[in-house]
Amino acid sequence: MGAMPEEVEPIVAKLDNLKETVYAANTYYEGFYKGQEVVVAYSKIGKVFATLTATILIEKFACEKLLFSGVAGAISDDLQIGDLIIASGLCQHDLDITAFSHPFGYVPEGEVCIATDESLREIAKKVAEEKGLTLKEGIIATGDQFVANPERKEWIGTTFNADALEMEGASVAVVCTALNVPFFILRAISDSADMDAGFDFDAFLESSAKISADFILSMVDTIER
Ligand code: ADE
Repeated sequence: MGAMPEEVEPIVAKLDNLKETVYAANTYYEGFYKGQEVVVAYSKIGKVFATLTATILIEKFACEKLLFSGVAGAISDDLQIGDLIIASGLCQHDLDITAFSHPFGYVPEGEVCIATDESLREIAKKVAEEKGLTLKEGIIATGDQFVANPERKEWIGTTFNADALEMEGASVAVVCTALNVPFFILRAISDSADMDAGFDFDAFLESSAKISADFILSMVDTIER
């Protein structure tokens, strides 16, 4: 799953026996990658669309695992444009009922940070090692905001101990956890969520999305059928 066409096109391009289904105003691409059956879709940007798509992938297309591929803004100084990060856990930085003495990102019966599947993370580390790639692991913060503001970025980093931010991952985490489906979130950095973020995002969306998509394809190849 991705959020934007640029994030899934490099994956769809590699599928055999492609079948397209339009459902709930989205296109779902069913096919095979090296014999492994997959369903690919981009949700459109943001938490609501991502929730809808993740739910449909699981409930209608019976996906047994969900892997997300896309781009993110860096919070950590360790992360440069094109670098890969996998989420250990995801939180919603724009979820705020602090007026009722709850922490940022928390609502009753939810959790501030939702952990991703450990065995999928292990597969990612193995793939990175085989390819000689550096893979950072950390918390990714999600919200319905394109962050292009150093103060907001700093606040998200400090409040959630987050290394990167984007606009869909925590939605996938909520859906997959509720429906008991192992999930994995990979992002390649497109910008640093600072004053230059809009410009950098436009400049690096395609190249960073491709870095992430290529990595996901290697993981699909490694996951046991
Ligand atoms: N995805 C990639 N860069 C982002 C940013 N700066 N804010 C939110 N989502 C992003």
